[in-house]
Amino acid sequence: MALRCRKNQATLTAAEKSRFVAAVLALKANGTYDTYVADHMGAMADAHRGPAFLPWHREFVRRFELDLQAIDPKVTLPYWDWTVDNSPTSSLWDSSFLGGNGRPSDGWVTTGPFAFSTGNWTLASDGPALRRRFGMSAPSLSTQNDVNWAMNDPTYDVAPWNMFVVDGFRNKLEGWVNGPLLHNLAHVWVGGSMGPMSSPNDPVFFLHHCFIDKLWADWQRKWPTSAYAPISGGPAGHNLGDAMQPWLGRGQTVTPASVLDHHALGYAYDNEGVCQPTLKFIDDLPTLKFRDDIPTLKFRDDFPTLKFVDDLPTLKFRDDFPTIKFSDDGGGLGTRNKAVDDVKLPGFDTPDFAKAQGDVTLPGAGVGRTAAPFVLSTPHHSMAWAQDQPGALQAAAANLELELRQLSQAIAEREQALQQGQLMPQEEEQLKQLQADYQAVLAEYQQLCGGRTG
Ligand code: CU
Ligand code: CU
Repeated sequence: MALRCRKNQATLTAAEKSRFVAAVLALKANGTYDTYVADHMGAMADAHRGPAFLPWHREFVRRFELDLQAIDPKVTLPYWDWTVDNSPTSSLWDSSFLGGNGRPSDGWVTTGPFAFSTGNWTLASDGPALRRRFGMSAPSLSTQNDVNWAMNDPTYDVAPWNMFVVDGFRNKLEGWVNGPLLHNLAHVWVGGSMGPMSSPNDPVFFLHHCFIDKLWADWQRKWPTSAYAPISGGPAGHNLGDAMQPWLGRGQTVTPASVLDHHALGYAYDNEGVCQPTLKFIDDLPTLKFRDDIPTLKFRDDFPTLKFVDDLPTLKFRDDFPTIKFSDDGGGLGTRNKAVDDVKLPGFDTPDFAKAQGDVTLPGAGVGRTAAPFVLSTPHHSMAWAQDQPGALQAAAANLELELRQLSQAIAEREQALQQGQLMPQEEEQLKQLQADYQAVLAEYQQLCGGRTG
């Protein structure tokens, strides 16, 4: 199954952040977002202070993520690791992402896309404005030591399965033991709208709960023989096979058992090494631009930019990831770029992969297969990968420069002949071909040399 990758928000590119924000705003605008707030408000006993705390929120944020992906298939839910990004000035709170702390007078968030003044973020409950009060009710967030303390408990939960039990991973992570800690403390530290049961009003709720879900996934991996509990005898909705609300009331059976395996739900975390490739490679491709200082070349004004046909609404894992098709939009780019070409996706986006310098084994894909991650499968599309290979950038640039010089010379000779009326018809075709080749190589060169900082 295709495993979409949930990443640490601190590692998102600016483009990924803006896509996420745009999708959240779209869900708010179409009314879907507020149904999540309402569902959470109705789910105190069903979703908190008991074993189902983790399964319930796993289902809840997964549904939210799927709704985001219905808006923009490339979005995945990022997580907020508050053991690291634990400051009011962490990049999480930039005005280009979630916006910052509330103003002193009333806690209203006045920066970023969720500020009341944007007109895009009026709360349907506990409103009208999103509020934050960083550190007002608790001076600091939980630490890695706190996380370890919960992670080191091999028991999922213990009777009587409530907020008062002092053992068990669930109640420690939820944050009632010696609390507020961990989950609860992050709600308290952010404050404002994150306090009451309408806390999904703050989009950081979903990044926070994504992190809680990741910690549960980490715990499940750490203790593979530790089972969910209870199977029976717990509060209604909290036993392994109990159908959880509000979904049961809508005729949908979601049980703790049905969400224990997060991979079966279609996602993984970026520390698991099993994420499937992203499509950022394609999004990042610049349009072709031509320099004015190339004396021998004349470019048509209507020269097409390359456009990519993303035919992958549902993402597939490596072995059934056939090809990505791309096409130009009609002007013809010569033999180097057929109208429709097939580009094999050269790699994966796991952290290990990005740093790999040779062949890597693709985790979970095609048993025993390896892939050379920096194979230059076509012009243009391979360069972003080549940049990760030490020395490849300079070598590729030198090759392209040589190719450009050779093409330029060949073009100049033919243009001169053309002006003197000495060019045969088929040679005119050749000239066009050479010019197209030059443009293609030039674009490749510019992409290579312009993308180094990215
Ligand atoms: Cu909750
Ligand atoms: Cu919560």
